[in-house]
Amino acid sequence: MRARLVVLVSGEGTNLQALIDACADKRYGADVVAVGADRDGIAGLARAARAGLPTFIHRVKEYSSRADWDTALANSCAAYQADLVILAGFMKLVGPRFLDRFGGRCLNTHPALLPSFPGMHGVRDALSYGVKVTGCTVLIVDPGIDAGPVVAQCPVLVQDDDDEAALHERIKVAERALLVETVGRMAREGWSVHGRKVRIGS
Ligand code: GRF
Repeated sequence: MRARLVVLVSGEGTNLQALIDACADKRYGADVVAVGADRDGIAGLARAARAGLPTFIHRVKEYSSRADWDTALANSCAAYQADLVILAGFMKLVGPRFLDRFGGRCLNTHPALLPSFPGMHGVRDALSYGVKVTGCTVLIVDPGIDAGPVVAQCPVLVQDDDDEAALHERIKVAERALLVETVGRMAREGWSVHGRKVRIGS
């Protein structure tokens, strides 16, 4: 059984592209079955269209409450029978109604080594703090902000002349590889979560 992935995006979609490319290999063990977004006109949706994938868009402002938006998002992921939902640069927090249905099988990717530098500006905050090593984290989404159990991490060295853009580009190279490797292993081997400890395989 190949795992069915629904990927949610808000921007460039290079992590989505890495997953699409990985899924082209039948040994990968998963397929991207749909791509969702919270906004129109983004490169991530164009990548999905080029790959012939169905897409859906739920804009928060089109719903009378955040809870209704959350329900609509969960309904779309459920309609594609998602085994795993992957937030790949998705710039919205999913809420309780979404997590009721996809808790424990919703992944996020973050451009810092959590629990350091959670939030929207993980790269900028790491750079301002002056750390010499940062990186990326794949985590299981919980109700907190970048607070869920860590599945995998990869370090990236900060260089003296780095600015936010340069550092983020290097992190994204590591992030794409980490996400592809982690999702593939989870799809093929399964996983378990005990408290904060995530284990891939049996
Ligand atoms: C990634 O670094 C992700 O962690 C962050 O935004 C970036 C998204 O990149 N939240 P892309 O849209 O996958 O190219």
